Amino acid sequence: MPVNRRLNAIALAAMIAACAPGPLLVAAQAQDRVSGSAVAAAPVSRAVLFEAAAADPAGVLVLPLASLTDLSRFDGFDATVRTQIERASASAGFNYGARQTLSLRGIGAWDRILLVGLGDASQAQWSGAVAGRAVQSEATAITVLTDALTPEQAASFATGLGLGHYRSDLYRTSGRSTAAPGPVVLAGRSAEAARALYEGRGAALVEAMAWTRDISNEPANIVYPEVFVERARAAFAGLDGVSIQVLDVPAMERLGMGSLLAVGRGSARPPRLLVVRYQGTGAPQGGPIALVGKGITFDSGGISIKPSAGMGNMKMDMSGAASVTGAVLALARSRAPVDVVAVAALAENMPDGAATRPGDVLTAMNGKTIEVISTDAEGRLVLADALVWVERNLDPAAIVDVATLTGAVGGALGNDYAGLFSRHDALADQLDAAGRSTGERLWRLPLNPGYSGILSSPIADLQNTGASGPGASTGAWFVGEFVSRDIPWAHLDIANMAYGAANDWKPVGSAGFGVRLLEEFVRNYQPVARGEASGGG
Ligand code: BES
Ligand code: MN
Ligand code: ZN
Repeated sequence: MPVNRRLNAIALAAMIAACAPGPLLVAAQAQDRVSGSAVAAAPVSRAVLFEAAAADPAGVLVLPLASLTDLSRFDGFDATVRTQIERASASAGFNYGARQTLSLRGIGAWDRILLVGLGDASQAQWSGAVAGRAVQSEATAITVLTDALTPEQAASFATGLGLGHYRSDLYRTSGRSTAAPGPVVLAGRSAEAARALYEGRGAALVEAMAWTRDISNEPANIVYPEVFVERARAAFAGLDGVSIQVLDVPAMERLGMGSLLAVGRGSARPPRLLVVRYQGTGAPQGGPIALVGKGITFDSGGISIKPSAGMGNMKMDMSGAASVTGAVLALARSRAPVDVVAVAALAENMPDGAATRPGDVLTAMNGKTIEVISTDAEGRLVLADALVWVERNLDPAAIVDVATLTGAVGGALGNDYAGLFSRHDALADQLDAAGRSTGERLWRLPLNPGYSGILSSPIADLQNTGASGPGASTGAWFVGEFVSRDIPWAHLDIANMAYGAANDWKPVGSAGFGVRLLEEFVRNYQPVARGEASGGG
């Protein structure tokens, strides 16, 4: 064990260095030769500039358009180029719908012209993301003409471009240019207003989404609980109003977190509870909004081991923790006037001689006893103690937990909505509204009181899975057993949304699902009255 610890410390030092930008990377690569772990490529990002007018035509031109007539709204646009674009667009049957693109080459002095359909006003960020992904590997400057957009839409489009530029091939050493690509120039009459909106909020979202997606995409030999903590410390370093608290194993033992600790017992990587509080100036009183994330850095299933096919994807099982931390990062970086805390329940679920077994009985921090039926239903076990800790230590106004909790949620909702569970309708409605306005959609599923029977154990207070029943709902019910009934609480099961194939706006891997949703939700939060509620089933 001491040898193991030392090796871990070396790998950890390398990783801490690896996530810092600039000259530290050199040190990381040197360290890396000692530890033998891979080091991710440094991100290359484009400068984002807002100008009143475009420079001379060169490089890539992006035209966000809601209709053909938008083409005539650009000040000083070359008439010949416009005619050619009109002809090309008509001939291709381009319909200006949200997220539609048409790439044209050989027009005017531009290397490439990308038409992007806008759809309705609320879709600008998504259209920007699709455009950003389409032009992501272009080395030249990218000019976006924004005269057809409101300042809000232009800022959203710029935010989307940043999201679309994200790449997940973190460990490819070939085929990546390390030269800084040209800037994105958003040119239009309302440049000043658009810049203020982008710099006040959008830029922080882009960075937070990249942080969240990187840490979800990183493999489990690189990101384990201690590394998650160090990366969070690095990301929040120097931000005003932020305080970080970390519970290690002895601290969790003293508090009686027998449920969370049981999940980490089979791993050489010890669990952690990470707490990141951000209190902005001008934040309302009434306690923080607590966002609690499942942070399983790898879910092998433990002794109830998973089938090998696809098991590697379980490096993403800390996506809930990554999203809550990312949402708070976005809020802190943009100095939002909110009081919010991210709590990451971090552990690695592995089989081992010391691992928790099916049949074991655990005692959570609140004294409730749990019979483990499946060690693969581990997310609810780490959330149980995290939620008890949150309620006892933070006096939260509301709690939202976010977890890649069940495969079953995808059976119900496909890849269109994450599952939303709550007894407090007023809280569920605010989350639903944030989902609609950000496009990270939620769909409410039941918390029927009958589920308590499914989880009753013959030996303990409850068991961690039922023999039958709707899996996403019974998982949610278990989690809710560790929150007092009067506290406004919601559970988001994002197992079907967090990670997946490449599509029009993102590469394969993490979607960062929940960052934008939670950032919007926290900004707009209206107090929900405490008291027992019976909504949701
Ligand atoms: N991390 C998994 C859930 C998951 C599945 C996330 C697929 C992402 C994609 C979770 O810990 C798990 O194993 N859940 C079990 C619960 C069961 C044992 C009650 C499941 O869904 O099968
Ligand atoms: Mn599992
Ligand atoms: Zn899991």
